[in-house]
Amino acid sequence: MALKLGCKARRNCCGLLLQAVRSPLLFPWAHCSWRGAGSLLDPEMRAFLEENTEVTSSGSLTPEIQLRLLTPRCKFWRERADLWPYSDPYWAIYWPGGQALSRYLLDNPDVVRGKSVLDLGSGCGATAIAAKMSGASRILANDIDPIAGVAITLNCELNRLDPLPILTKNILDLQQDKWDLVVLGDMFYDESLADSLHQWLKNCIWTYRTRVLIGDPGRPQFSGHSIQHQLQRVVEYSLPESTREENNGLTTSTVWDFQP
Ligand SMILES: C[S@@+](CC[C@H](N)C(=O)[O-])C[C@H]1O[C@@H](n2cnc3c(N)ncnc32)[C@H](O)[C@@H]1O
Repeated sequence: MALKLGCKARRNCCGLLLQAVRSPLLFPWAHCSWRGAGSLLDPEMRAFLEENTEVTSSGSLTPEIQLRLLTPRCKFWRERADLWPYSDPYWAIYWPGGQALSRYLLDNPDVVRGKSVLDLGSGCGATAIAAKMSGASRILANDIDPIAGVAITLNCELNRLDPLPILTKNILDLQQDKWDLVVLGDMFYDESLADSLHQWLKNCIWTYRTRVLIGDPGRPQFSGHSIQHQLQRVVEYSLPESTREENNGLTTSTVWDFQP
């Protein structure tokens, strides 16, 4: 991942991150010493994130959102991957799928204003933040990585928002809650995760008539999935140069409305 970081990250941070997802043993040392919502602002964790990320608002589709991300000026962009003490930091990258979704929500606040919104696989939290900025009444940022929870809280602070509610467990096997809107940025990067999401999202829509918006830059696991037959294209964005470079030359990112 990003953090097969090291020098390789400079070449292709995102591609490596996705490789790592498919090969969990690539990071056998990865563990998380941080647990639980009560320690979201653990001082050591906060200090680690602040020291090893850079605040940036450039190079994405949403310059109005500031984020702490892993950039070429961060130590672990070049550093040996085995010195990174935590799980692979997906939260340190603002993925093209999330960028498109966030841009769409900021430009079309009517889509979220007064609505309850679940950002599933929130990562850095940018799409949840965009939903908040556009007037969503209730938001949950969900990610299985507890450190993403810390990053999301720091990113809320950067954008002068109260901390958003965060849930750091896998909800795909749980009883579903009612949401007006579920948003997913760049979540279809793995075939079995794509299958689970497909089923879970169908149940959400059939049970609660939830609207589901998916942001994706055309990853093969998404373009080749059976969900393709149940999508309506909402909008397509041309990606900024730096995002293209980090994503193997992907040039656009699209927001899709899932209608099974
Ligand atoms: C490629 S990143 C996308 C992050 C963000 N949505 C964006 O577009 O910038 C995928 C995220 O999904 C999270 N994730 C993976 N499986 C998940 C699951 N079952 N439930 C919740 N989050 C999950 C990962 O930890 C990671 O932060």
